[in-house]
Amino acid sequence: MTILHLRRARTSLVLDARGPGLPRVVHWGGDVGDLDDEGLRQLTDATVPPVVPSSFDEPAVLSLLPEPSAGWSGRPGLAGHRDGRDWSTAFRLDGLDVDQPADAPARVVVRASDPAAGLALTIELTLDRRGLLTIRHRLRNDGDGAYELRELTPVLPVPAVATELLDLTGRWCRERSPQRHPWQHGAWVREGRHGRTGHDATLLLVAGTPGFGFGHGEVWAVHTAWSGDHVTFAERRPTGESTLGGGELLAPGEIRLGPGESYDTPLLYAVWSDAGLDGLSDVLHSHLRARPGHPRSPRPVTLNVWEAVYFDHDLDRLRALADRAAQIGVERFVLDDGWFRGRRDDTAGLGDWYVDEGVWPDGLQPLIDHVTGQGLQFGLWVEPEMVNPDSDLFRAHRDWLLAVPGRLPPAWRNQQALDLGRPEAYDYVLERLDALLSDHRGISYLKWDQNRDLTEAGHHGRPGVHGQTAAVYRLLDELRGRHPGVEIESCSSGGARVDLAILARTDRVWASDCNDALERLAIQRWTGLLLPPELIGTHIGPERSHTTHRVHDLGFRAATALFGHHGIEWDIASISAAEQAELAAWVALHKRLRPLLHAGRVVRVDHPDPAVWAHGVVAGDKTQAVYAVARLATSVTQVPGAVRLPGLDPDRRYRVRPAADVPAPATIDRSTPIWLATGVTLTGAALARVGVQVPALHPEQSLILEVDTVD
Ligand code: GLA
Repeated sequence: MTILHLRRARTSLVLDARGPGLPRVVHWGGDVGDLDDEGLRQLTDATVPPVVPSSFDEPAVLSLLPEPSAGWSGRPGLAGHRDGRDWSTAFRLDGLDVDQPADAPARVVVRASDPAAGLALTIELTLDRRGLLTIRHRLRNDGDGAYELRELTPVLPVPAVATELLDLTGRWCRERSPQRHPWQHGAWVREGRHGRTGHDATLLLVAGTPGFGFGHGEVWAVHTAWSGDHVTFAERRPTGESTLGGGELLAPGEIRLGPGESYDTPLLYAVWSDAGLDGLSDVLHSHLRARPGHPRSPRPVTLNVWEAVYFDHDLDRLRALADRAAQIGVERFVLDDGWFRGRRDDTAGLGDWYVDEGVWPDGLQPLIDHVTGQGLQFGLWVEPEMVNPDSDLFRAHRDWLLAVPGRLPPAWRNQQALDLGRPEAYDYVLERLDALLSDHRGISYLKWDQNRDLTEAGHHGRPGVHGQTAAVYRLLDELRGRHPGVEIESCSSGGARVDLAILARTDRVWASDCNDALERLAIQRWTGLLLPPELIGTHIGPERSHTTHRVHDLGFRAATALFGHHGIEWDIASISAAEQAELAAWVALHKRLRPLLHAGRVVRVDHPDPAVWAHGVVAGDKTQAVYAVARLATSVTQVPGAVRLPGLDPDRRYRVRPAADVPAPATIDRSTPIWLATGVTLTGAALARVGVQVPALHPEQSLILEVDTVD
């Protein structure tokens, strides 16, 4: 056995795998250079803490699965028992498989066992070429009786210099709101018990050096890739250790491993950067973009008809919307909720996945043909995991529910969840979805919704969230296997299912049901911490937001929606000719900038005035960029200071000018900054260090700046 050094990009992971116990993480963070065996031994020695009074006689070993038997008195990595026995482990290292090919992720498999407890553990680690680390534990029951697993979580140490925590919380229409605080002693535990990822899920849990920001500071972050109940935590111990970890939250009795059976944890993604939060996003975005299944075709500008018509489905009206959409430059038309049997409002119909014969006497094909005839793709809303008690499905199969015997979970949007762990329920839903896609010509997109928490989610009398989550993944995988050309959006009451496990089998997320551009600025900024813009649905809503009642100019709404998978969710059949023309100009701008927006590096500006936000996307070769400067509110300061435009090549010269072809935002200026009329040419260094004065924007106005190299 040995001391391992995985090195990729600028990240190092050093593991003391000399045994006899589980490998100790010597270092996870910035690259420590090319160390030989002796160098690694010295580094390892240098990190062993002293023994102090009133403590164990040997320093505790903080492994990837911390154990009390190794002197660890923080949160253990494993909790479980076999009828009250085998509740504590002392894993012994059995072997290591190490693979560090030059052109692929470094990979380590750690094999360990505790014969006395009858358990075997496998730890899989990968470090991809951008420095993204993933960890998964597998526990196998090698004993005689059943082993009840309560918790199994990978854990990583973070150095003492990380003293602040940032994570995200939220609710419906306010997903991914940041919260930040000093990292004090104790455990900061973010639990999601929604049976889905949750509006409040922390996309990333970030620990960092004091005052870290978007463009500065050393940061360590983890993401728990699981769409069911899960936990992500940061623990700081009075003994001196700090850790980050995450895994699945298991209900009592949920995972009982029979002899020979095993359990895999969700993947824990871990990323380090010394370039602040943008540095974390760089690694995560480029990792996601390199996936074989990452969407590669230009992301079609989408019209979703939900906020235009709600449940009022009428073929002529929808055809008129499609015509208008085509004129404006839309490329995909999505028919939302309301097309299936009995679905006249949200009290009935879920589960009856047959086209409603009353509303659609000739079926959906005439609309699909009309839409595709205009050159647009056609998408359809489904919510396959759910059932309304007022549905034929429920009346026929009341027992197909996720519930405990004898009672229904509290209703939520008048609906209950189907138990997809039951083969007959699973087969029914798969058959219906498959038939919808097979029986119609031209459905190339599903908006896959999930609109309730799973509460008392029983499966044959036992906890069922784990099985349900796995069944949803299977269902998606199987459907995609049968219909590889169909793209799928992950929606869940807006953005309650945004995680990297669902994104392994879907093509974008719906970030929020809130289309208010001001709220969306924040929701998108923080969703973008994990996801690149092309995976985040961003739509232009109506002038008066349906969810907040704020009123915004089209320019502000469009500038906000520009930076994502762009779309419209607005009754565009009823807008004026002037609005149509302006909307078409914004769609054209998006299409022109789309290759940049959907492949470039995302930067967010740490501007001192909290009422001024700026963000941008810089092309990989740094020849081009686009930035938005948004005024969120009024400021005490009259002129908030020049806005820096980071991320460009310091030595090249760039021309900066307001986006052409779209109207200028409203300002209170008596005269705008002098450079605006002609544009300005500056080096990347000057733009990053000095920046440019921007007009005195009215609150809730945005300026789009296009940047092109002149060298
Ligand atoms: C959820 C989604 C919305 C819409 C409605 C339809 O709330 O988040 O976008 O599809 O369901 O009922």
